[in-house]
Amino acid sequence: MDQELTKLLEDAAAAFKAARNNQELQDAKAAYLGKKGRIGEQMARLKELPSNRRGSFGDSVNKVKTQLEEVFASRKAELDRIKLEEKIRAQKLDVTLPGLRFPVGRVHPLTRVWNEAVEIFMAMGFDVVEGPEIETEWYNFEALNLDADHPARDEQDSFYITGDTLLRTQTSPVQIRTMERVGKPPVQVIAPGRTFRRDAPDASHSPVFHQIEGLMVDKGITMGNLKAVLEEFNREMFGKDVRSRFRPDFFPFTEPSVEIAISCFICGAKGCPACKRTGWIEILGAGMMHPQVLRNGGFNPDEVSGFAFGIGIDRLALLKYGIDDIRLLYENDLRFLNQF
Ligand code: PHE
Repeated sequence: MDQELTKLLEDAAAAFKAARNNQELQDAKAAYLGKKGRIGEQMARLKELPSNRRGSFGDSVNKVKTQLEEVFASRKAELDRIKLEEKIRAQKLDVTLPGLRFPVGRVHPLTRVWNEAVEIFMAMGFDVVEGPEIETEWYNFEALNLDADHPARDEQDSFYITGDTLLRTQTSPVQIRTMERVGKPPVQVIAPGRTFRRDAPDASHSPVFHQIEGLMVDKGITMGNLKAVLEEFNREMFGKDVRSRFRPDFFPFTEPSVEIAISCFICGAKGCPACKRTGWIEILGAGMMHPQVLRNGGFNPDEVSGFAFGIGIDRLALLKYGIDDIRLLYENDLRFLNQF
């Protein structure tokens, strides 16, 4: 092969290999292998050669051409691979990077206690019902033996909407509504919900608070059933060793009525600030349903009897989590809520 051809082959191979991208490679290809390229020029030299040398020179040029095409193809493949690798690198997902953290919400302490209480009663066979937050005087007061002159009906204590509608001051109206709706015993329900009283907010009062009403009516229901259900609730809610104390009380819609306290689970009933050094914490009111209340719900007190109870959910939450101010439950201060 003559020197010029050898040089051409070396230059071309070097130019192909030096190409850093497809465009540069295509330019190099045009310069050497293209119609007006350097190989073409060599072909043009054929005519100038004596006829006896034309054959071997033509072979040499073709050989160079073939070799260059191979160099081109391999550089092209190499550039394509580099390009693909770059693309893959750019798109790569680094699975070892720490993930994005989304703030996780929490269940409000009040809702937690509410849910827990509902589950305890459901396990004992109670159904969950609801009643309206806006009530009539009949359901909220009269049907529950709270006459017009009863102190609890003082306008100072209730949020009235019109002359005889108000925000319910207790969940007890659901007793009447449930008896009316169910029509006949047995009835075994709880009714959790919001209740409202015109109290100025302080550490132990909130104008909005929550209660769980309980109601069980059937033939032969006694104070023994009431005791069993509420003792079980107290143990489930506050711990197996907690004892329950039943003392006489008064509610217009139950007779007899009881006030129920649990032995202080904080000091083991020895006496501490939480139980005001008495060893006992009052947590709920209850009683056997008054015959007139059964009648107001459409039931016959000569045939059936029942018990009812009312639990303050807010108070349960304060006790359970050692919170000393009910207002914390309503202020939505994240520094407080994040602790639960
Ligand atoms: N409704 C009463 C209250 O708000 C509680 C209660 C309910 C008492 C049922 C006895 C029976 O104080």
